[in-house]
Amino acid sequence: MARVLSLFTPSGRPTLGNLLGALRPSAQRLTAGAARTDHVYGIADLHALTTPHDPALLNERALELAGLAVAAGIDPERCVFFRQSAVAAHTELSYLLESTAHYGEMQRMIQFKEKSARQEVVRLSLLTYPALMAADILLYQATDVPVGADQSQHLELARDLAERFNRAYGPVFTPPRAVVPKTAARVMDLADPSRKMSKSVDSPGTIHLLDPVDVVRRKVMRAVTDSGSEVTYDPVGKPGVSNLLVILSACTDTPVEALSYSSYGALKRDTADAVIALLEPLQDRYAGIAADRAGLEKVLREGAEQARTLAAPTLAAAKSAIGL
Ligand code: ADP
Ligand code: NA
Repeated sequence: MARVLSLFTPSGRPTLGNLLGALRPSAQRLTAGAARTDHVYGIADLHALTTPHDPALLNERALELAGLAVAAGIDPERCVFFRQSAVAAHTELSYLLESTAHYGEMQRMIQFKEKSARQEVVRLSLLTYPALMAADILLYQATDVPVGADQSQHLELARDLAERFNRAYGPVFTPPRAVVPKTAARVMDLADPSRKMSKSVDSPGTIHLLDPVDVVRRKVMRAVTDSGSEVTYDPVGKPGVSNLLVILSACTDTPVEALSYSSYGALKRDTADAVIALLEPLQDRYAGIAADRAGLEKVLREGAEQARTLAAPTLAAAKSAIGL
């Protein structure tokens, strides 16, 4: 049996990259006939505490991301959909896994090295968060975890911890495998296509999912293109043009090879139209969801209840195996 797990971190305002790379592929996995518990999706609000955060904003960001996820097609009737902080088993198992992990291997995580180098004060949770991420996955006996390249080392660690725990204390966990989503696109920053579009970076080349459509159009029309005038897919030689082709391809579910353009201007116009055609209905659905905040909170409460039920036997088995 396969169970897919994916959590989304409310660490900033979600972008077109998050939609095309994570939310939409997750929604597309919810095919007819699957059991609700085949897909465990959630808002990883605890992971937003690993770097300086604004406590007044955290709850808003978490609810906004939850609303956007639902608006993007993550139907809470067809998956287990919840907020991580509402399910105490995550932090409880995380501690057992911190007691399974080694200080040295946590220090060697590339993300830790990169992120800690950029900060004056490093929160201890930035070091230990891969253990929490492992708990997120192992609690549900998830088999398949869609990850971007930047998270594959953490997924590898989750596998290692599962296997190490199983060897030391008995077979409790399913070692998860990383899946590279077929439909996920890697979207680059429109103003600087040498780096990925990110909600953690403030850039005029970031499209936020709630940007007004005229702002979206302006950002696409001002996207950095490359020298020459030929539209060809060449991420190294023509990163700006290639990025627009990737975005247009993902928004219209058309292979890049099937896209043919004779000018940058026409490519930009069609890309802007395609992004807006995707975002406008999403924003309409989001407006309806946001207007019923109590309804969204209820959905998340019910999801947390299902998540607790699903997680309980594994947490109990882990505690018993480790000697508690
Ligand atoms: P961000 O860099 O925006 O903070 P995260 O690192 O929190 O994003 O990643 C959240 C999810 O969104 C991951 O599944 C990641 O692969 C996906 N994602 C983030 N940025 C992009 C992007 N530019 N293109 C495609 N997918 C992305
Ligand atoms: Na990030």
